[in-house]
Amino acid sequence: MQKENRSAPKAAASRDGFTSSFGVLAATLGSAVGLGNIWKFPYLTGTNGGAGFLVVYVLATLLVGLPVMISEIMLGRKAKANAYTTMKTLAPAGQPWWIIAVMGVLSSFLIMAFYSEVAAWVFAYVFKAMGSSLLTNDPKVTSDAFGSLISNPFQSLLWQWIVLVSMGCILLMGVSKGIEAATKKLMPLLFLLLIIVGIRSLMLPGASEGLKFLFQPDFSKITAAVVLTAVGLAFFKLSIGMGCMMTYGSYFRADQNIPSTALRVMCADLFVSMLAGIAIFPAVFAFGFKPAAGPSLLFITIPAVFHSMPFGHFFMVVFFVLTAVASMGAMLSLLEVPIALLSERFKMSRPAATWTTMGVLALVGTTCALSNSTLSGFKLFGMTMFDLFDFATSNIMMPLGGIGLCLFVGWIWGFERFKTELTNHGMLKNEGVLHVVFWIARVVSPIAILVVMLKGLGFI
Ligand code: PHE
Repeated sequence: MQKENRSAPKAAASRDGFTSSFGVLAATLGSAVGLGNIWKFPYLTGTNGGAGFLVVYVLATLLVGLPVMISEIMLGRKAKANAYTTMKTLAPAGQPWWIIAVMGVLSSFLIMAFYSEVAAWVFAYVFKAMGSSLLTNDPKVTSDAFGSLISNPFQSLLWQWIVLVSMGCILLMGVSKGIEAATKKLMPLLFLLLIIVGIRSLMLPGASEGLKFLFQPDFSKITAAVVLTAVGLAFFKLSIGMGCMMTYGSYFRADQNIPSTALRVMCADLFVSMLAGIAIFPAVFAFGFKPAAGPSLLFITIPAVFHSMPFGHFFMVVFFVLTAVASMGAMLSLLEVPIALLSERFKMSRPAATWTTMGVLALVGTTCALSNSTLSGFKLFGMTMFDLFDFATSNIMMPLGGIGLCLFVGWIWGFERFKTELTNHGMLKNEGVLHVVFWIARVVSPIAILVVMLKGLGFI
């Protein structure tokens, strides 16, 4: 393995690092699994009516998420570069497909702005959990504890900066391999803990109500806006439509089976979300929380699950530590999109690219950190900046990026090259499946995303 050159773009340095098929799988999964599973999936399922939303979300993941993910990884591996250079070199001269990548970089900033704040709450909760104030199953006490954290501008900002500086140091010191290795080891622990918490939650009196909410669909609650939210969640969850999987694709080995890796990541990711749902919803109904509590759902419910559980105090601390680690894996992949671009395209040194990105994020992120306090009255389109960035990236920018990628692969790239790349030049016998995936990407996905977007946003 080559020694890492710190001033070289990470894309080039890390490409040497993925020497095993398991490494590729773990890194891709590290990007996909994060706060999206543990925080966003449960709260959106709660606010959008439960099982019906879950059904639409799973369909969106299969029909739209998988083809986009496979296409995106394929393009990245072919060009072996950051998202911008990938689109620029693979597209016919003069055609502006690079716009997808530019929009992706913008998305990564906007996502990081609110994601780093949610990570900030998780970091803060690691320390809160060490004390005894959270050891209660009284909805009022847990809600107040969360409310006092997010409505305190000083604490919200401080913890966000702690998150940003920690991420900056990790990226700078070139020890991302360290955290990637840690993610690899700690992720199975997170699975295990979620299973334990799930079992505990299922044993609570009244747990069956939560299961019904999660698995017994009531399709009357499905509106166009709900469908758009489910599609947006599929994009957010799989880290697609914004150049992240393209960047990771550039680290893939030539003999890696892309379709099967994507399928495995998708299944594992769904599994983790499901576990988080099973950990949270039975407790929501058992203790009288509101399923539609919104972004606070995780933080107010989880302490109640650990309360009175054997070793609950210890497990609660471990839970928040593991959630923090999962969020860091996802943030590393998010940050790689602008940093790879700044260093490769604008020839910035890696430290300069990292601190520029962090500086911009500290500014943009402030608007999200203060969305529940000082800036709660500052709204655009009726939303605080936290909600707006979340909404705009998941429901507009990433799906638009997805449409662009599908059109590019389906109509410009073409089946012959699609087949060559995804059979690894004829080594894999998966042509039949590729026909299906290609046609979904060429026709079904772009039309489906477009219709869902137009309807969900109220244009038709
Ligand atoms: N998929 C990550 C999660 O669920 C979030 C993410 C989105 C990461 C986009 C990278 C790119 O937490």
